[in-house]
Formats: sequence, structure tokens, C-alpha cells
Amino acid sequence: MSDLIDLKPDARVSVRERFGLHSPLTVPAFRERDAHVPEIDAAYRFNHDVTLAILAGFAQDRRVLVQGLHGTGKSTHIEQVAARLNWPCVRVNLDGHVSRLDLVGRDAVVLRDGQQVTEFQPGIVPWALQRPVALVFDEYDAGRPDVMFVIQRVLEREGKFTLMDQNRVLSPHPAFRLFATANTVGLGNLNGLYHGAQRLNHAQIDRWNIVATLNFLPADEEVAIVLARVPALADDAGRSLAHRMVAMADLTRQGFAAGDLSTLMSPRTVITWAENLQIFGDVALAFRLSFGNKCDDAEKPLVAEYFQRCFDLELQAPPVRPGESVPPGPGCARPPPRGG
Ligand SMILES: Nc1ncnc2c1ncn2[C@@H]1O[C@H](COP(=O)(O)OP(=O)(O)OP(=O)(O)O)[C@@H](O)[C@H]1O
Ligand SMILES: [Mg+2]
Repeated sequence: MSDLIDLKPDARVSVRERFGLHSPLTVPAFRERDAHVPEIDAAYRFNHDVTLAILAGFAQDRRVLVQGLHGTGKSTHIEQVAARLNWPCVRVNLDGHVSRLDLVGRDAVVLRDGQQVTEFQPGIVPWALQRPVALVFDEYDAGRPDVMFVIQRVLEREGKFTLMDQNRVLSPHPAFRLFATANTVGLGNLNGLYHGAQRLNHAQIDRWNIVATLNFLPADEEVAIVLARVPALADDAGRSLAHRMVAMADLTRQGFAAGDLSTLMSPRTVITWAENLQIFGDVALAFRLSFGNKCDDAEKPLVAEYFQRCFDLELQAPPVRPGESVPPGPGCARPPPRGG
């Protein structure tokens, strides 16, 4: 892998052409693809507002935090924007055990001319800060709040970074960018879904210039994402099925909001369900294996009722084998489209 230090943005790309968004903006980009640039996922569909927020981060050096429920495409969104700008991007998964030394650096014994010497090895923050790298703190709210103070100054405009053990002050590379993703807005696990999420320091949350929210999308957009991920569903019957799957997911979200269910289906679960359907060929079995079995026993009857409402099918119905006649309506892996 190259050292990156000499790279700088040397092109501009049109947001309309590269991301398919209605926007006259152009943003800086790199001509060359370095090994740190994420792979392009051609099936990725960009959300207008979130993409513009992330692009503002790249173009105008804003610190962008993307917050939202699980499996809505936060982490991949930042990566896919970087991939299309050829911007080197490094994603760091935070957890309660990531320490200050991991982020800042530590002394390590290395071999120099056959001699063992102790040398400072920079951590990910000073390494990225001096390079044209988009550093993404993934699961930012899982990082310990006392440790996260190491980025307090970096979050400020022109934020420098002091390596105390080295008596050195590092200035950020002009193309260094900082992003984060989180399920919560730093208030802790308020809805009970995000065990392990920390309450974050709000002087730090205050330093993020842009907070974009990526929660559940309009049904048509979610169906389009499922069809992009599972092209086998791209015919009329498949599209109708995908609409019912998204409607089912939406019922679980409403059930969760009303306090009837303790879990909900994320867009990731819907995609997994559609993929599992390709393996098992039975929409009820694929549903049970993708989501149904994650539900509490006491809540399963309600989930089965939602399923019945969306598919006109019993969740526990015996599978229909190839060659057997499909009863009208219920029982088919791909129900025919219903009116409306
Ligand atoms: N807009 C989209 N287009 C195509 N695929 C998508 C889109 N959004 C999400 N996905 C797919 O959904 C899955 C989940 O996305 P991702 O891991 O980015 O979610 P997340 O919001 O970071 O979740 P978590 O909060 O659990 O970390 C991925 O496989 C991703 O490719
Ligand atoms: Mg993520």
C-alpha cells in the first residue's frame, strides 16, 4: 500500500453525474484509486439528504456524524461516497475496549539495523490526520466517552493534534476528513435497542458540524434498495413480493413504536430475508429464519398476525413443494400481486 502522503485531490466530479442526484454541485475527487479507497458497490442507492451531508463533509471539510437506527446504510453510505470520489477511507470500529493508546499511538520495540530500539508508533488518529484520508469512527457511541476526548480538538476547524509523549503538534493534511456513525445521538440506550451505547459528552457532540439522520426510508425507496440488492426479484411478481416484505417490516416498526414489539425489522433484515428467500424458495420459512426466530415467544403471535395480513399466509404453514398446486392466495413462495 502506498504511503498516501503526497496524494491530493486533483479532479472535480459532478454530483449529478456521479451520484445521480438533482444537484448542480461539483466536489473534489482523486484521479487515481489508491488501495485504501473502498470498492464501488454498483447497486448502492444514494439517499439525497444524507449524500449531500456527506459530500459537504468531503468538499467543505465539515465533520459529519450520521445517526440512525441499525441497518439503514450509514456505514456503507460514507464508504460508497468515498469510493466514488476515489478518496482513501479508513473505517475504525469503536468499542468499549478501544483505548487512548490505540488511537494516539504507543512506544513499541522495533528492529533498526539489527538493533532492538524503542520507537513511537503512531495510532490511527495521527496517522490519518497527516494523510488525505477520510477517517470514519464507526459505532461512535460505543466508544468510551473519556477516551473519545482525544479527538476533541481534531473536531474543531483546523483542529491540530498534540502528541504529548513526542512534544509535537500535528496539523491536519488539507484533505483529511473525519466522519462518524452512531445509532444514538449520544443520549445512551434510550429505546432499549442499543445495549452498549454510551452517553456521550455533549460538548463533543456540539463539535460535529453536520448531523445527518438516516432512519427508515419511504417504502418505494426501500423496495428499490431490496431490488438493487437481489436482482432476481426485479420482475412484476418479485416487485409485488418486495412491496409486501417492506410492508411487513413497516408493521414491525409501527409495533415497536407502539410498544407491542421489542424488536423491529431493519432494511438490512429485509435484504437478508430477500436473499434467504433465494436460498429456501419459501417466503414464510425465509422470514422465520431471517427475523421471526429473533422475536420473543410472547410476541410471535403478533408477528404471525402481521405476516398473515401482508401475505395472506400462515407463518407456520407447511412449505409448498415443486409440482404441488398452489392454493389460491396463501401458500405460495411468491404470492400473485393483489389489487391496490
Ligand atoms: N441505499 C442502499 N443501497 C444499497 N444497499 C444498501 C443501502 N442501504 C443499506 N444497504 C445495505 O444494507 C446493509 C446494511 O448497511 P450498513 O451496514 O451500512 O448499515 P448501518 O446503518 O451502518 O447499520 P448499523 O447501525 O447496524 O451499523 C448493507 O449490506 C448495505 O449494503
Ligand atoms: Mg454501521
